[in-house]
Amino acid sequence: MTTSDPSAFIVRGQVLSFRDDPFAAGSDAATAYQSDGAFVVEGGKISVAGPAQDILASHPQLPVERYTDDLIMAGFVDSHVHYPQYEVIASYAGDLLEWLDNYTFPFEARFADREYARKIADLFLDRCLANGTTSASVYATVHPQSAGTFFAAAEARGLCMTAGKVMMDRNAPDNLRDTAQSSYDDSKALMEEWHGRGRLQYAITPRFAITSTPEQLEAAGTLWREYPSALMQTHIDESRNEIAEVRRLFPDARDYLDVYERFGLAGPGSNFGHAIHLTERERDAFAATGSGISHCPTSNMFLGSGLMDLGQLRGGANPVALGLATDIGGGSSLSMFRTMKAAYEVARLCGYGLHPTHAYYLATLGGAQLLRQADHIGNIAAGYDADFIVVDLRSTPEIANRMEHLSDLAEMLFVQMMLADDRAIRATYVAGRKLYQRSGAHEH
Ligand code: GUN
Ligand code: ZN
Repeated sequence: MTTSDPSAFIVRGQVLSFRDDPFAAGSDAATAYQSDGAFVVEGGKISVAGPAQDILASHPQLPVERYTDDLIMAGFVDSHVHYPQYEVIASYAGDLLEWLDNYTFPFEARFADREYARKIADLFLDRCLANGTTSASVYATVHPQSAGTFFAAAEARGLCMTAGKVMMDRNAPDNLRDTAQSSYDDSKALMEEWHGRGRLQYAITPRFAITSTPEQLEAAGTLWREYPSALMQTHIDESRNEIAEVRRLFPDARDYLDVYERFGLAGPGSNFGHAIHLTERERDAFAATGSGISHCPTSNMFLGSGLMDLGQLRGGANPVALGLATDIGGGSSLSMFRTMKAAYEVARLCGYGLHPTHAYYLATLGGAQLLRQADHIGNIAAGYDADFIVVDLRSTPEIANRMEHLSDLAEMLFVQMMLADDRAIRATYVAGRKLYQRSGAHEH
């Protein structure tokens, strides 16, 4: 076979991909693993994937990037993260509402300065790449330029990213408030400029019910009806104090989700962060309306928000669309390995065993599904964008030692998800271009 792209190449290694959703189809049926696999990258996409001997034989002219001892998998998808909170990480605070007031809001105020926003956007994206994260759904701040700056930085790297300007018109400091009208106008202008441009898409982003008036939630719903291909992201049912405040602010609502439903802010394409303390009605409504949830386990532990019952949401007969997320800076790590570990541990505390293939699915293709992009990111398969990572399976002495005693693929994946972090990311490719290569003492 010939290719028209002169820069086409083959990647060879231990390739992990998904044929299906393991929660629905079971781990074995859903997971594909080639111990000596390969795929062709051309024009920024994966054109064909399969056993290395087949791919090499059919493309003898192409150069080969060999990662024989490494795991090759789709880049991680972080389905809920605040780039402006990169410097808020590990701020010693009380619960969610105290943490927002004392640390998060003062840091977010700095994003009125475009230069500062640019610096943090660059830093954040480079650290995402170093952690193997190639796509994310990102909150900016209330300042429209904080979203524009982020999109520009993502575009410069060729990244597939979702983001939105936060809408917040009450219960926040003066310098962090917009109005229903200005948030509508600014979000609309940003969508006109960025939504659907290259690999970027817009998420309408009312922060949460506490910081939006009914008028602003109405404006967000109107925007979504006008731009149905955009996504909608917000927070829900994260902490007990937050829920009590929402009940006080919206006394007529049946529950927290009902506040959003009333304004047309639920359904496919919605992405609700946290969703820990759901009532039965809310849980049923999530499944019935096709609304999505981003599970943020490191954040939920750091802020003491609670234990999301993943088994209940995803393991039963009416599964809810779920992504896995770092929620920096409420979260304590940008690493999706660390996040899978936390998800495993939180599920354990709820009496549910999160199987490793299920965790990797949530961290890649499941997140892509939530962001309505599962047809082109989150997997290694023909036709997919060539966003992938090379995982060093022996990145620390403990991991290297543990790798000597494996019984199967699931155990190998489990060891990595429990013990690995950014040190395991040997290289990160975006649209076929190597944008990150590990350097220094860990390279060998
Ligand atoms: N709820 C409203 N805003 C935020 C935020 O920035 N982080 C978290 N974890 N929860 C929120
Ligand atoms: Zn959040």
